[in-house]
Amino acid sequence: MKKIRNFCIIAHIDHGKSTLADRLLDATQTVTAREAQAQLLDSMDLERERGITIKSHAIQMEYKYKGEEYILNLIDTPGHVDFSYEVSRSIAACEGALLIVDAAQSIQAQTISNLYLALENDLEIIPVLNKVDLPSANPEEVSDDIVELLGCKLEDIIHASGKTGFGVDKILEAIVERVPAPKGNPDEPLQALIFDSVYNPFRGVEVIFRVINGQIKKGQKIKFMATDHEYFADEIGTLKLNQVAKQVISAGDVGYLISGIKEAKEVKVGDTITDAVVPTTNMISGFEDVKPMVFAGIYPVDTEDYEDLRSSMEKLQLNDASLVFQAESSAALGFGFRCGFLGMLHMEIIQERLEREFNMTVITTVPNVSYFAYTKKDPDTPMIVNNPSDLPEPSKLDRVEEPYIKATIITKSDFVGNVMSLCIEKRGVITNQTYLTPERVELNFDMPLAEIVFDFYDRLKTVSKGYASFDYHPIGMRTSKLVRLDVLLNAQPVDALSALIHESSAYHIGKKMCEKLKELIPRQQFDIPIQAAIGAKVIARETIKALRKDVTAKCYGGDISRKRKLLEKQKKGKKRMRQVGNVEIPQEAFMAVLKLN
Ligand code: GTP
Repeated sequence: MKKIRNFCIIAHIDHGKSTLADRLLDATQTVTAREAQAQLLDSMDLERERGITIKSHAIQMEYKYKGEEYILNLIDTPGHVDFSYEVSRSIAACEGALLIVDAAQSIQAQTISNLYLALENDLEIIPVLNKVDLPSANPEEVSDDIVELLGCKLEDIIHASGKTGFGVDKILEAIVERVPAPKGNPDEPLQALIFDSVYNPFRGVEVIFRVINGQIKKGQKIKFMATDHEYFADEIGTLKLNQVAKQVISAGDVGYLISGIKEAKEVKVGDTITDAVVPTTNMISGFEDVKPMVFAGIYPVDTEDYEDLRSSMEKLQLNDASLVFQAESSAALGFGFRCGFLGMLHMEIIQERLEREFNMTVITTVPNVSYFAYTKKDPDTPMIVNNPSDLPEPSKLDRVEEPYIKATIITKSDFVGNVMSLCIEKRGVITNQTYLTPERVELNFDMPLAEIVFDFYDRLKTVSKGYASFDYHPIGMRTSKLVRLDVLLNAQPVDALSALIHESSAYHIGKKMCEKLKELIPRQQFDIPIQAAIGAKVIARETIKALRKDVTAKCYGGDISRKRKLLEKQKKGKKRMRQVGNVEIPQEAFMAVLKLN
């Protein structure tokens, strides 16, 4: 066990984590040339395209140091805030972390939030100044920032480049020298932390774990403590580039387990595996049931595709335990599903996977967070509202609570004013302001999560000219003065366009909403009035004027093939339209409230 090192790489997005991981695999000859492929750890297609590590994996390397063989387990962590719980569990499986900082970008919001997670888990931090090959690199200044942040010595910082391979040997040496060996006892009852799971349609769910104490043996009867399910360890092994089956995995090491589990949701990241007969009394702390944060309706464009959509969602859920959904119906859109996601990125991924892997064309409604509504009749019991149209009538409502987050923003001092105004406009309350250096400031706000779901990221980028990074953590529910803003098209309320909005901005948003819908909904053969209303009160109105000309008219008679082409083109454009009453609404219109600026 003294020869094992478990470590992860933590970094702000794009600071070069995947590239550096590839270099470590090359340098330890974990990857043969034939297998080498850019960014090996990102195995899903979608991940590679987006350049974001969505799911964490682990890989074992062998490394010779002063004549002795060491096993280095690299535990990959996802880089996006939507997946921060998975990051925290991966970190909990390690004794050390490489903290990568881009030599041109310096410390950013995720550098800090991931560092805090690592420090909470008592990890040894190895600071790495990456991308030193860049002409725009500023090694002296950024090193000072790192020293300031960590309280480490200047000599502790390793200069490296994932691009050229510079510094990679030093990093490997530092992992052996500085990361402590695992401490567990192989003779105690089994206690292993599940930090990831991977869905395999042929073999079932593969559970990725770190043994803290005891041993796991092939064929052993085991128990997952949080779910209280028992299984047999049909196959266990270590994770090289491919899986390598083993008979035993002992305290300190990382491995995979296959035991005939068919659905991802049976396996909970953060759960403890123990022996079914001689269980440990200590469940590993920190287990949480992950809850979806953002909800939206997903509807088939063609109502006939409802059953296909259901079976596609069920298949997606088999391999994505964090996706939840339940059937719902909308007066405007018919039958569909209310789906829960970890965040906006997760929602986009699901939508994209439905289209690519299942060939579904869907309409997604405006995302919203999950509210607690208390009625006057029962002011002590929260009613969970995941769809604005489920909010009780204002006359029956006692109060509404919404989820709040603690936001961390790091920006240049020049932009502090802009960032503050934006956060205040988004109902944020500043809780802390720290100058990391004379030019760089860390700001903390308490803010409603709903304001982040709306156009926050884009606005932050704009007001800071791109020089702001952002991260957040949920901090619980708070009472807010929220009203339901309804939209009527042709005097018919369209439930899928309703949104819960803070009282103070309802008029402004109602007005903007009408203007935006006027832009987005194509003109038709008749006038279409658009109204925004709170309860029975109309607060804004616009009209889409009737279309006069026939689009095919300009192909004066003769050319039939041209005419057909034009009609075909129109038909294609219609693909993502929904007929609501007698008005055709394009997909963008359902997202209008997100794009009001
Ligand atoms: P996520 O997985 O999205 O969090 O990103 P990451 O941190 O893994 O970054 P990634 O390795 O994908 O690198 C981001 C970009 O920086 C890519 O375009 C890389 O080619 C580039 N890059 C990474 N390391 C270096 C480096 O040492 N020098 C230079 N010049 N570019 C680098």
